[in-house]
Amino acid sequence: MDRQRLIIVSNRLPFQFTEKKGKITIQPSSGGLVSSIQSYIRHLNQDNEGITPVWIGDPGVTEKKFTDFYGKRSIQQDEFILHPVFLTDIVREKFYNGFCNDTIWPLFHYFPSYAKFTDDTFEHYQIANQLFSNKIAEVYQPGDLIWIHDYHLMLVPSMLRSDIPNAAIGFFLHIPFPSFELFRLLPNKWRTDILNGLLGADLIGFHTNNYVQYFLKSVQQILGYDNNLRLITTPDRSVTVDTFPVSIDYEKFHQTATNLTVFAERNRIKKKLSTTKIIISVDRLDYTKGIIARLEGFEMFLEKYPEHQGKVVYILVVVPSRDIIAKYKEIKDDCEILISRINGKYGSIEWTPILYQYKSLDFEKLTALYLAADVALITPLRDGMNLVAKEFIASRNDRKGVLILSETAGAAAELSEALLVNPTDRKEIAETLSGALSMPPEEQVRRNTSMQKRLKLYDVVKWADDFITQVMQSKEKQETLQIKEVNDRIEEEILSSYSNATKRIIFLDYDGTLSPIARLPQLAVPNEDLKRLLQRLSNDENNTVVLISGRPKGVLEEWFGNLPIVLVAEHGAFYRPMHNGWEQTISANVEWKEKLLPLLELFANRCAGSLVEDKALSLSWHYRNADKELGFLRSRELINSLNELSAHLDFQLIDGNKVIEIKAHGIDKGMAARLLLENGEYDFILAIGDDKTDEDLFGAIPPDGFSIRVGLTQSVAKYNFRKQGNVIGLLNKLIMYENHAV
Ligand code: UDP
Ligand code: G6P
Repeated sequence: MDRQRLIIVSNRLPFQFTEKKGKITIQPSSGGLVSSIQSYIRHLNQDNEGITPVWIGDPGVTEKKFTDFYGKRSIQQDEFILHPVFLTDIVREKFYNGFCNDTIWPLFHYFPSYAKFTDDTFEHYQIANQLFSNKIAEVYQPGDLIWIHDYHLMLVPSMLRSDIPNAAIGFFLHIPFPSFELFRLLPNKWRTDILNGLLGADLIGFHTNNYVQYFLKSVQQILGYDNNLRLITTPDRSVTVDTFPVSIDYEKFHQTATNLTVFAERNRIKKKLSTTKIIISVDRLDYTKGIIARLEGFEMFLEKYPEHQGKVVYILVVVPSRDIIAKYKEIKDDCEILISRINGKYGSIEWTPILYQYKSLDFEKLTALYLAADVALITPLRDGMNLVAKEFIASRNDRKGVLILSETAGAAAELSEALLVNPTDRKEIAETLSGALSMPPEEQVRRNTSMQKRLKLYDVVKWADDFITQVMQSKEKQETLQIKEVNDRIEEEILSSYSNATKRIIFLDYDGTLSPIARLPQLAVPNEDLKRLLQRLSNDENNTVVLISGRPKGVLEEWFGNLPIVLVAEHGAFYRPMHNGWEQTISANVEWKEKLLPLLELFANRCAGSLVEDKALSLSWHYRNADKELGFLRSRELINSLNELSAHLDFQLIDGNKVIEIKAHGIDKGMAARLLLENGEYDFILAIGDDKTDEDLFGAIPPDGFSIRVGLTQSVAKYNFRKQGNVIGLLNKLIMYENHAV
């Protein structure tokens, strides 16, 4: 059997290729993304999991240089099969340096003033994403699982979806997803394209629950798609969003203390600095890493606690990164000036407070540093996760060493026993450093033991396996929600089941189902043809026809009061049995109504054309007749305000078709349908509706019944009708069929 293939796609390949005088040299790539995926793939190969990984990314050199050297367009390097995506220098400059690192990176890391908004770079982002998508389509084989990584490639999922509609596609974001207020700073087209781009995936993963919530809110506010327990339903598919905190190869780091080379290097450092305590930090050069504030915090520490002068050394490792971008050059210069000022001010012939290295360390050197440290000082201003913090804790098999960690790093959510600090608060950094250096060993062990347990349980293999499993589950979920349009065969099945039955119940929604949606609710008055149709359908004594609507009982009574049918009003709050008066289905608490009515009226005043419908047990705000964009914007604001109030008031909210419905908890069309179904043993059950509130109705229909949602949209209903007219067509056929059968 073929091994299942996993296609990893990221901007960078795990190696960077550089060309000099016709020769190509290979360097490992830096950064957390490559670290984590590389560790996972190494495990797959070692454990012989039957999965063949393929990695697609930018090699950093042109196609000509690559193919001149290798004689082919894909190569095997170590355990990786690499398929390069070749970008021209100009595309890479505008896509990578431009849109990725001068727009998205600063904005998503809460530096909006650093973000540039240039059409040209977004156009090149689209071009580069298309090139990645084309390459994936070229490499793809049926059955492959495609895993796209990070902010460079947010348009790829939907581009790829249009080429390979059934592919299993996962997307993971390695950086923070910002709050809606920041995300909305992107021009309208860009932010819409980015969200739609991501929604091409089957599963979208983030490091923390906050990032998930921010993303869901942006999707709701910008695209208008709601979610139910993190399942977003778009008009044609459903997408799962979830939290997967990226992790490390725990065992590999935990074993380093037994690696002789690492231990020798650790001892060398310790010996060299034998009279001093060691503080370390390791970051890529980046303004998000908080290096300046940290250095100032360290300076304050020396000033405030002079007893540590001469007795503490801070080893600051900065890994070169993106240094042709102006802001990065600036931060490097600023750091170096500050380091030399602090060293000049406090240092002496015998003692240099800060030992600065501007280079990347290999695994042995890095872990030796982790083992030698008394304190790791990791204080990014924002960081998607921060693997260095996790690696430091994992590598300490003596369970000693104190981690000082920024509360705004994604890792802080899992490493809560670290000393958490505000990375901009110099004074707090100084005081925490002093506390860390005097922390008793037993307390260090206690804190690190808990953190190690957590890291061991959810290591990089668990992280990746969890993600991959959920991509597959998300695909399965979609199959159950697939749109199945009623065709001749299905129609025949419904008709013959109808004619064979002797006790039938037919649930029909009104607006959008029996009657086309009108500009204003009061304009959707039923015509005589419809009334005649319902009359004929209910003339058959084997039929119970139920008109089940969100409309108030007065309106239903006025329109259909004379017909021998069951009426259900206000989404199930009231019902009128065939020949009796109205009853309330269940008791409900509606204290919230008088509190919410003024808010809805305020929105009606602020949005011309919109109106409030005040019903006995529910409220609706309709905006079909308002200006399209303003109506949508106001509806998102209203949902936002209602969501805030829902913590204190007992109501439920439905973001319907150009209407926001607010109802008492426990009342829905499903509940009303179940009540009616309980009362009879029906051998034919049919339910037809067109809106979100009808989903509850469909959910109440037993598996051998028929449910149809009007509109080609995902639904729990068994089938879909393309348009409202199909409903009338089917009902007419039912009547004719019955007449034929008789
Ligand atoms: N790293 C490394 N050599 C160094 C410094 C860092 O290999 O000299 C690795 C480190 O082990 C970690 C990754 O680079 O796995 C940095 O990831 P992190 O999430 O901390 O930050 P990022 O660079 O992704 O922002
Ligand atoms: C972060 C990003 C990665 C990126 C890495 C290094 O970890 O999430 O996508 O690869 O930084 O940055 P670079 O720009 O050098 O690829």
